[in-house]
Amino acid sequence: MPHHGEDPRTRSDRPWADPARPVEERVAALLDAMTLPELVGQLHQPANVDLERDAALLAAGAIGSTLHASGATAGNVRDGGVSRDRVDDLQRAAIESSRLGIPLLIARDVIHGHRTVAPIPLGQAATFDEQVVHDVAARAALEASADGLTWTFAPMLDVVDDPRWGRVAESFGESPLLTARLGAAAVRGFQASGLVTACAKHYVGYGLSRGGRDYATAEVGEITLRNRHLVPFRAAVDAGVGTVMAAFCDVDGVPMHSHHHLLREVLKGEWGFDGVVVADWNGIGELVEHGVAADLRDAARLAIEAGVDVDMVSGAYAAHLAALVEGGEVDLELVRDAARRVLRLKVRLGLLDPDCASLPGRGDLAGSHGLGLDRALAREAAARSFVVLRNDGMLPLRPRPTDTVLLTGAYTRERASLLGTWVLDGDPEQVSAVAPAVVRALGELAELAELTAGAGDAGGADADGDAVGVVAEPTVRRVLVDDGAFADRTLRLARDADLTVAFVGEHAARSGEDGSTSDVGLPPGQLEVLRGIAALGSRLVVVVLTGRPLALGEVLDLADAVVLAWHPGTEAGEALADVLVRGVPATGRLPMSLPRSVGHLPITHAERPSGRPLPDEARGRGRYIDAPSSAGVPFGAGASALAYGSLTAASGEVTRDGEAVVTLEVTNRSDREVREPVLLFLRDEVAEVTRPVRELVDVQVVTVPAGASVPVTFRVPAHAFGYHGRDHAFRVDPGRVVLTVGWPRADASAVVLDVV
Ligand code: BGC
Repeated sequence: MPHHGEDPRTRSDRPWADPARPVEERVAALLDAMTLPELVGQLHQPANVDLERDAALLAAGAIGSTLHASGATAGNVRDGGVSRDRVDDLQRAAIESSRLGIPLLIARDVIHGHRTVAPIPLGQAATFDEQVVHDVAARAALEASADGLTWTFAPMLDVVDDPRWGRVAESFGESPLLTARLGAAAVRGFQASGLVTACAKHYVGYGLSRGGRDYATAEVGEITLRNRHLVPFRAAVDAGVGTVMAAFCDVDGVPMHSHHHLLREVLKGEWGFDGVVVADWNGIGELVEHGVAADLRDAARLAIEAGVDVDMVSGAYAAHLAALVEGGEVDLELVRDAARRVLRLKVRLGLLDPDCASLPGRGDLAGSHGLGLDRALAREAAARSFVVLRNDGMLPLRPRPTDTVLLTGAYTRERASLLGTWVLDGDPEQVSAVAPAVVRALGELAELAELTAGAGDAGGADADGDAVGVVAEPTVRRVLVDDGAFADRTLRLARDADLTVAFVGEHAARSGEDGSTSDVGLPPGQLEVLRGIAALGSRLVVVVLTGRPLALGEVLDLADAVVLAWHPGTEAGEALADVLVRGVPATGRLPMSLPRSVGHLPITHAERPSGRPLPDEARGRGRYIDAPSSAGVPFGAGASALAYGSLTAASGEVTRDGEAVVTLEVTNRSDREVREPVLLFLRDEVAEVTRPVRELVDVQVVTVPAGASVPVTFRVPAHAFGYHGRDHAFRVDPGRVVLTVGWPRADASAVVLDVV
């Protein structure tokens, strides 16, 4: 019997609740106390557990975790939102009605913000800045944990070179190194408070979905897997990620939910991952659809043997695992090992501690975190994610006092879609819309010029309804706003404008899960309108809001300035106003190449050399008859305020366990301080297997005061020149490597080093 007044969670017969004991001891004690159905319960993850419907399961300890989601492709279908009260009720039921009182893991897809929303991950990747990604993730996790959530299904670490695949929006782009760096930063950020676990997904190969069709098969050999697609997952494991999600795809014929080699031998074996492998939504059930399991029972057996610990929604484990063990078809130790991993995670998250902040009545997280205060971070992240692809002296906008400015396009007044895919709890009403923000910023210019700016929807420019209005009419300047609903009206307004800013691009629902497209141009009709505006002779600035890299070749020819702004999140309008009008430098770079056409896909800066490479960069390697073969705009491109000096090496030699030190001087030619990424690329000239013609090998993000010159030093361990060879083992060869800084710019320079 417990002593009077003793907290029931720290009773001496519950050693697992004692935070003073080592994690593994607490986990072992709990495992030993559990029955087979309770062990299986820890592996069962239904969606949206309901207090009444699922009361008996909660009482039996038959549910280990739950996810809040609107359905199988929740990224583009909103639900009613998550609420702390509902989460608390669930936890109370799990703790108070069950024999062992183990709390649930409560999961949700908190991908690029929770209530305050930052740019989509692909936009964040354009900053090339680990700090930005870390801070955004840390902030999102704090907001999520205030709602009682303990598990986010992010970051997505699929390396991808085909923008037909809608999920590129959730990725960090085409570079394994960038994905690894930013992925690890996101993991550290999400897990910084210790209250939330991250999830590295989708392990592995999903970014190779054939033809860009979601869920489709991945054809890839193990050398490429190891040198490219596994790299970010290894980095996430090294950063301490708590969970990894299996991918929907099959890899070379073996569905990932049954991939014993990649899950058990590589992830849990070679890499020593001691966290949880979770299935993707019904991924275990889909082994039947893949045609490798006869039925759900068979699927449960294959998945647990392969190393999938938690069954998201298929119910296969709950229905069949105990019987499979009792029938001798599945080893009990596999189930105990999976449960051990879940319990270890719960202990690490403090869920079994008496004073756990994630549990009901244990602290006011919302109050202590100051929810929603960090719009400044979202605004900075958005502004830094914008990539200026062209600027013929147009930005920042400085309309002449007599100019009429037209803001046009579906995005002038849109809010919800600016949040991008996978935003479940961000409030569209909180989004700063584009036109009001830009009009306000133009008004500030007017004030600076001591002009009297009018404001508000004065209307009446064409007297034809809500969508058009004179929204600012200073004494010498007019700003018209048009939502682009009628192309003919847009052209009429553009005819009379001196400067047109067109906000075009994709709706968020055209990207994300199950958002594949067979065309990667602007959505139908938009290019036609841009052609029409350009033909009228108005100066034209095009801002592209998008979830994927688009083929923008003709747009770059038509416009005087082009800004690629992704889906920027809660602070979209203000961030755009900052860059378009207030002169905040846009220093984003392309984390994925922009293709010339859909026929050029897939495409990456890190192609491997063929036996017949072409010397002419513009025509690329392996020519098409009907078009240049290279990217429309390559990876790494984007406006820069910095002039680069030549790269120099501290020594021409580097030992295999040493580091290369290379330096260049950069000079800020602008009148503002800038924070910009500087990219270093590697070419390994001779190796046991073909190595990319160039691949990103390091990034330095530097802050340079206006007009100043500063040295930028890269310290690259020779380890970074290594690769997995013919036997799949990692090796660093002796021989020449070329390091290049500045590609694809005109002032790129290189050094050659000998690895000895
Ligand atoms: C997606 C995952 C997501 C899961 C839970 C799946 O459809 O592929 O990325 O985490 O649903 O919502």
